[in-house]
Order: sequence, then structure tokens, then C-alpha cells
Amino acid sequence: MAHKSHSEQTTLKSLVKLLPATSQGEPRHIGTAVMPDLLLDPVYANTVETEFDTVCVEHHLKWEPLLASKLARTGECVYDFTDADFIVDWALSKGLSVKGHTLVWHVTSPKFLEEKSANDLMEAVRRHIHTTCGHFYSRIKSWDVVNEALAPDGSFAETMFTKKLPALEFIEDCFRWAKTADPLPRLIYNDNKVEAVNAQKAIEMYQMLKILKSRNTPLDAAGLQAHFDASGTGLKRPAAPGLIFRQIEKLADIGLSTNISELDVRVAKLAGFDLDGKNRVQKDIYERTLTSCFRSTHFDGVTFWGFTDKHTWCNTFYWPDTPLLFDINFKRKPAYYGVCNSIMNVLNEMDWEGDWVPSSPVMTHSAASESAPPRTDLPDWKLEDHNVA
Ligand code: G3I
Repeated sequence: MAHKSHSEQTTLKSLVKLLPATSQGEPRHIGTAVMPDLLLDPVYANTVETEFDTVCVEHHLKWEPLLASKLARTGECVYDFTDADFIVDWALSKGLSVKGHTLVWHVTSPKFLEEKSANDLMEAVRRHIHTTCGHFYSRIKSWDVVNEALAPDGSFAETMFTKKLPALEFIEDCFRWAKTADPLPRLIYNDNKVEAVNAQKAIEMYQMLKILKSRNTPLDAAGLQAHFDASGTGLKRPAAPGLIFRQIEKLADIGLSTNISELDVRVAKLAGFDLDGKNRVQKDIYERTLTSCFRSTHFDGVTFWGFTDKHTWCNTFYWPDTPLLFDINFKRKPAYYGVCNSIMNVLNEMDWEGDWVPSSPVMTHSAASESAPPRTDLPDWKLEDHNVA
């Protein structure tokens, strides 16, 4: 087989089109989260249109941001779809698909729900799902229906919903209401720290999804967020590629396809690496993660949580960082080429399922020095990838 390569003219979406469809016959997608005000910047908008085939609404499709602000605290849901409509219509006018994010997430639901009785709360959620899915009827290709319903240990998170309603039945209801409101979109359960097959939370998520599927809940896919910190150690380390691959294959056993839903890779806290070194580690993580994912025929695509380091939630929620594929001047970074390589690796049938080892990192002099004592603050990329229950 002739070795395929990519060039400067290649875009992410042109590459991903080369991959075969999933086992469920879906074309693979490659998308980015977007904000409506940023789409007014022609460079930002042009990059989205050129590089991606899908956009995900990063903030403005959540319940509270959808409410007309003056009325949001009165206990009545009066909607203002202006911002979300702007993104959705812009995307459709450019021939891009839209991933809806997210119908039910306690963090961004209006606080007045806490005052409602169990029955009124159920009815409010049902109405919210019907109103929102109904408004975007036939315009949204897939929906993150329920987001982050699980606590870090995999038990149900205690939320304004689960304080009053039985958690599993509530999640099931949300999917059924979404299906009734608009039968076409693919319906997704989305969560964080569930990328590695052997993580406790991943195991519990699988059990939950298995029960939901056994009840014929209209659930099509799982979203693994993948907000990675390259310097994370222990439980915070990025999931090893082989473990993600196995998670995707395991979820396929219960009839689900899987997507990576919010990918970014923080590198600012990576000790001992200069800028080139950080870029190189980041490229490696993007490349190996997505090579493993795209190798699975049950993996339907990836959404990056933004694309330019100029605009990333990490700067606000963590610290100044450079977690994305383009720099602040919208120039392609090594990470971008790592993503291209991941697709080419799969097309060229290369086997990349392995441990984390950055391919010759460029380290600062002190870290690279042979006489330096062994470091204890470096991330433990070398994972026991084979030791899976
Ligand atoms: O738009 C307003 C602006 O008018 C106002 O001046 C400003 C002042 O705070 O706030 C702006 O809204 C912010 C919005 O992002 C847009 O920038 C909200 O305060 C802020 O809470 C919101 O944060 C988003 C967060 O979800 C909550 O919706 C982040 O951008 C977004 O990246 C983050 O995404 C989540 C996923 O949905 C679920 N998984 C985790 C991920 C990261 O937290």
C-alpha cells in the first residue's frame, strides 16, 4: 500500500473524509466548540469553516444562557434563542453540522428549579427539552442530552435533579423526551474522566449505560470529554491511548458509538520543558490519542474545545495555557500536525497503541542534563496499559 502523506493545503476536514465510515455507517466528524461573538472575527470564522465539518455550541445552548435574562430568576422559562440561533444558522449556511451541547446539565440550569417539587421539576425539564429540541428541530445533528451526571467516583452526582428524582430514571426520561421532541438527532451521554477503560468512573458509566440500553432507552453514543493536562499525575494523568481504544470497543459491545467531545491538552505546567518541548509533548498526546480512537470503527469523531489558544476556557478556569491546535495568531501548531498524523497513521495502518513516551522531547538544559538527579515531578506517561481488568 502506498504511504499517504498530508500537505500544507490539506485541512482537517479533508483528511477526516478519507477515513471509512463507522460500523454504524456514520461518517467520522471533526469539530470545534465555538462562541457567537468570536464568529464575528473573520479570521476566526474562516478557520472554523475551512478546517472543521462540525461546530459545537460551547456555552449558549445550555439552559440558563438560553433564558431571557430579565425573566430568568422568576421561575418561568422564557427563552431567547438569539445567540444559539446565530451559531446554528451560521454553521448551516457554511455547510457545517451542529452538535448540540447540552440539554441537561445541573451546573448551568437555572437556580429557581431548586424550589420546585419533584413533579414540577420533572415537568420543567420535560418542557425545556421539548422547547429546545423543538426550536432546533431538524437543524441539530446530535445532542449531548445529559452531561456529567456522575460524581468522580462514578456514583450519581448529587444535583438539583437527583436530590428530588431517582437519578437513573431521570436520565432515562431525558433521553425519551429528547427522542420524542426530535427523532432524528443522535443522542449522547457525555462525561469527563471516563476515557480510560479501567478508571472507576468509566466502569460505573459503562454499567449505567448498559442498564439504559437494556431498557431500550434511545441512546446512541457516549462522549468522552478528554480535557487533558500533560503534567497531570496519578488520577489526573491523560488516559493512555490503548485504554481509550479499549473503552471505545467496550462501549460498542452495548451498541454505542463513541466520540471525544471536548478535547484540549494543557501544557503550561509541564516542568522541565521549554516551549518547543511543550509543543512536542502536546503534539504527541494529540497524535497518539486520536490515532487510537480513529483506529476503532466504533469511533465517530472528535470535537476540540476551541481551536485557537487566543480563546480557551482554560485561561479562565485554570491558568494561562496553550491547549489547542492553533496559536493566538491562528497559525497551525505542532499539535495540529499531530492530529493530521493521527488520521494518516490510521490510513497507513500504523500500529500506535502504546504507552505515553514523547518522541524525543526537547528539554531544557537542566532537565536534559545526564548528571541531573531523577525527576519526581514529571508526568507518568508510562502507564500499565496492558494491565486491564
Ligand atoms: O457571555 C458572558 C459575558 O456576557 C459576560 O460578560 C461574562 C462575564 O463572566 O460571562 C460570559 O459568559 C461566560 C461564558 O462561558 C462565555 O464565555 C460564563 O460566565 C461562563 O460560565 C461560561 O463558561 C463555560 C462553561 O462551560 C459553563 O457553560 C465555558 O466557556 C465552557 O468552556 C464550559 O464548558 C464545559 C462543558 O460545557 C462541559 N464540560 C466541561 C467544560 C469546561 O468547563
